[in-house]
Amino acid sequence: MAIGPDGKFYPSPAEDDPPEAPEDAGHGISKFQQIQRQAARARKIQEEQFKKDQATFLSALEDVEDAPDNPEDANEDSGDDLFGDIDKAIALKRKEFVKQGLLKPNPKKEKVTEVGVEPIEELLPEEEVDLEEIHELQGRTAVPNEINSNDEVSDLNYVGSSSSMSFDLDVDNYGKSKARIVEPKFKMTLAELLDESKVVPVSVYGNIEIEIRGIQHDSREVNSGDLFVCCVGMKTDGHLYLTEADKRGAVAVVASKEINIDETLGCKALVIVEDTNSVLPALAASFYRNPSKSMSVIGITGTNGKTTTSYLIKGMYEAMALRTGMLSTVAYYIHGDNKLDSPLTTPDSVLVQKLMAKMLHNGTEAVVMEASSHGLALGRCDEIDFDIAVFTNLTKDHMDFHSSEEEYRDAKAKLFTRMVDPDRHRKIVNIDDPHAPFFIAQGNPDVPVVTYAIENKSADVHPIKFELSLFETQVLVNTPQGILEISSGLLGKHNIFNILAAVAVGIAVGAPLEGIVRGIEEVDAVPGRCELIDEEQAFGVIVDYAHTPDALSRLLDSVRELGPRRVITVIGCGGERDRGKRPMMAKIAVDKSDVTLLTSDNPRTEDPLDILDDMLAGVGLTMQDYLKYGENDYYPPLPNGHRLFLHDIRRVAVRAAVAMGEEGDMVVVAGKGHETYQIEGDKKEFFDDREECREALQYVDELHQAGIDTSEFPWRLPESH
Ligand SMILES: Nc1ncnc2c1ncn2[C@@H]1O[C@H](COP(=O)(O)OP(=O)(O)O)[C@@H](O)[C@H]1O
Ligand SMILES: [Mg+2]
Repeated sequence: MAIGPDGKFYPSPAEDDPPEAPEDAGHGISKFQQIQRQAARARKIQEEQFKKDQATFLSALEDVEDAPDNPEDANEDSGDDLFGDIDKAIALKRKEFVKQGLLKPNPKKEKVTEVGVEPIEELLPEEEVDLEEIHELQGRTAVPNEINSNDEVSDLNYVGSSSSMSFDLDVDNYGKSKARIVEPKFKMTLAELLDESKVVPVSVYGNIEIEIRGIQHDSREVNSGDLFVCCVGMKTDGHLYLTEADKRGAVAVVASKEINIDETLGCKALVIVEDTNSVLPALAASFYRNPSKSMSVIGITGTNGKTTTSYLIKGMYEAMALRTGMLSTVAYYIHGDNKLDSPLTTPDSVLVQKLMAKMLHNGTEAVVMEASSHGLALGRCDEIDFDIAVFTNLTKDHMDFHSSEEEYRDAKAKLFTRMVDPDRHRKIVNIDDPHAPFFIAQGNPDVPVVTYAIENKSADVHPIKFELSLFETQVLVNTPQGILEISSGLLGKHNIFNILAAVAVGIAVGAPLEGIVRGIEEVDAVPGRCELIDEEQAFGVIVDYAHTPDALSRLLDSVRELGPRRVITVIGCGGERDRGKRPMMAKIAVDKSDVTLLTSDNPRTEDPLDILDDMLAGVGLTMQDYLKYGENDYYPPLPNGHRLFLHDIRRVAVRAAVAMGEEGDMVVVAGKGHETYQIEGDKKEFFDDREECREALQYVDELHQAGIDTSEFPWRLPESH
C-alpha cells in the first residue's frame, strides 16, 4: 500500500502486508467465526459421505479379525511400520462397529494358514513375466537404469512378504497415473530408413549403411549421429546450414540441391530428393516406427475450441482407464499427469512422431491431437494414422496464412479425407456449422458420423437444456445411448459445444455413459481458457488469453451471456506489436464491460504509458485528459455510462479490478491466459495472472476487513482516518 502525493491510497505492487484489520471488521463476521462455519460445513459433508459409504466400509471390515483387547499384544507382530499402524486402525474401527452392532464379532483364529491354501512365496518364472506385463501396462514398471544395484527388489517380491517392502509411495500423486517416463532410443541405417519410408532418392552418395540416431531439420538441434534434412522454409533454406549441422555431428544429409559433402567432417552420406519438405514426415514416421499406428489417435480441427475439446476428450478417455496422451497448443502430455515442458511452437512432423514414439514406449494407448489448419497444410500431420476426426467450427480467422477461405477449409478437411475405413474410422461433426456437410462428405461416405449441435435438434448429440452461470455450466445431453447430466467448470455457451464434441467422441467409441460424464466433469479448467479462479468469493473471476480484438469481443459477449451484474475487464496491448489493434481493443473492452482497467501486457521496450495512450484513443481520450480527471480525484463515467481506469502496473490493475468485484459481478483478466511472464524492456519476468488473481482475492479480503472502500479507483482512505 502506498500513499501517493495526492494523498490517495494506491495498491502497492509489492508484496507488503495490507493494513491490520480491526478485531470486529468484516461485515459482522470475524475471521474466526468464518473458519468455524467452514469447519462445521466440512464436518457435515464428511459425515454425510461417511453414511453413504458405510456399507462399503462394513463389507471391507467384515472379514477382518477383532483386535486383541490388550493393546500391547496388538503391537507385537505389526511392529512400528506403517502397515502395522494401518492394520491396527482397521482393527480398532472394526471394534467400534461391532460395539455399535453393525458387524458381528470375529475373534482371532488360532491357526492362520488354512488347509489347501498355500501362502504364495515365490512366483513361477512365467507368472513373473505375466506380472511384469501387468505392471508395465499399468505404467508401474521402474525404469531399469534407474534401479540401483542393491534395490533389486522388484514389485514382485511384494507379494506375500510385505516386510521386505520399501515404502516410497508418492502420497500427493497416489492414484494419479504419475509414472517414470522413459526416453526411448532409436537407430537404423540410412539404407533401412530409405527402404522403410519408401522415399525414392534422385541420387545417393557415400555410405548409406551409416547408422542414424535421430532426424533434424533445424541445424541448431542437430546431435551427434543425426540425419540432417535440408528443408526449405518461408524465411530460410536449410541448405545454408550444412556446415553447422556437420559441426554438431550430423552423419548424413538429405537435400534437394547438389551440395558438396566432401569437405565436411562427419557427413558420410548424401541423399538427393526432389523435395525435402515433402519427404520429411515419411522419414520421421519410419524412423520412429510409426507409433500412431499402435495407438488410437483423435484429431481435432476447426477455428475455435480445439484445445478445450482436447482436454475434455483426454479427461474422458482417462476416466475410461485409457492412458491418454495429448498434443495441444497449451501442453504436451505423455499420459495422465505426465506433462512435458510447454511447447514453444507447434510441433513439426519430426517432433510429433518423436513424441508419439515416446508415448507409445511409455504405455500410452490413445492420443488426442490438435490438428490446426496451419499444421495440416504444412504436412505436420501427414503420416499420422488418425482414427477419429473431429470438426468444431470454421470462421474467417487465420486468413493471413491461407490465401483464401477455400484453401483454409481444404487444409482443415485434410484430416477428414483420411477417414476411409468404416470399421475403424469415425467422423465427429458440429452440424450447427454451415460447413458441416463439406466435412462429412470428405473421405469415405460409409464411415460412421456422429453429429452434435446446440440448435439443430436432429444431431445425434444435442442438449435438451442447459444453464450457464458465473461458476459452472450445466447441461442435459441427449445421445443415442441415453440422456447425460453434466455439470462443468468450463464456462460459457461455446464450452457447451466443446462438451458436446467430447460426448460425441465418447458415443462414437462406445464409451460407458458414466465414464463420459465423469471424465468431462473432471476437467475443471483448461489453462487460460475462461479459467475460473475460485477462492469462494461471491463474484466470478476468470483469466483468458484473448489478446486480439476478435477474441476479446467474443470473450466479453460470452461472459455477458452468463448474466453477471457487471463485467469488470482488465486488458492491455503488447509493445512493439500491431499498434493498430490498440484503440480497437480499448473500444471493445469499454463497450462491452461496465468497468474497464487498461494496463500493460508485455510492453517490451516501449513506454507503457505510450501504449496506454494509443489504447485511450479508441475511446476518444488522451493520456492528458485522463490525468486531468485524476487531479480532481474523479474519473467521470464515459458517455455510455461505463467506467474507465488505467494503471500501467499490471499487478495494480488486477488488484484494483478484483477489489471492485461485488456479488454477482464477473472480473475478466484478459490477454495472458496460461502464459506466465511479463516482458518489460528486455527483461522477461515471471508473471501469472491466475496467481495474481488469487493473491488479489486474499489481499482485498484483508483490505475490506480494514474498512477500506475499494469500489472506486484509486482507493480512498477509510472514514476514520
Ligand atoms: N466451440 C467453440 N466455439 C467458438 N469459440 C470457442 C469455442 N471453444 C472455445 N472458443 C473460444 O476460443 C478461445 C480459444 O479456445 P481453445 O479451446 O484454445 O481453441 P483453439 O485451440 O481452437 O484455439 C476460447 O477462449 C473461447 O473464447
Ligand atoms: Mg489451441
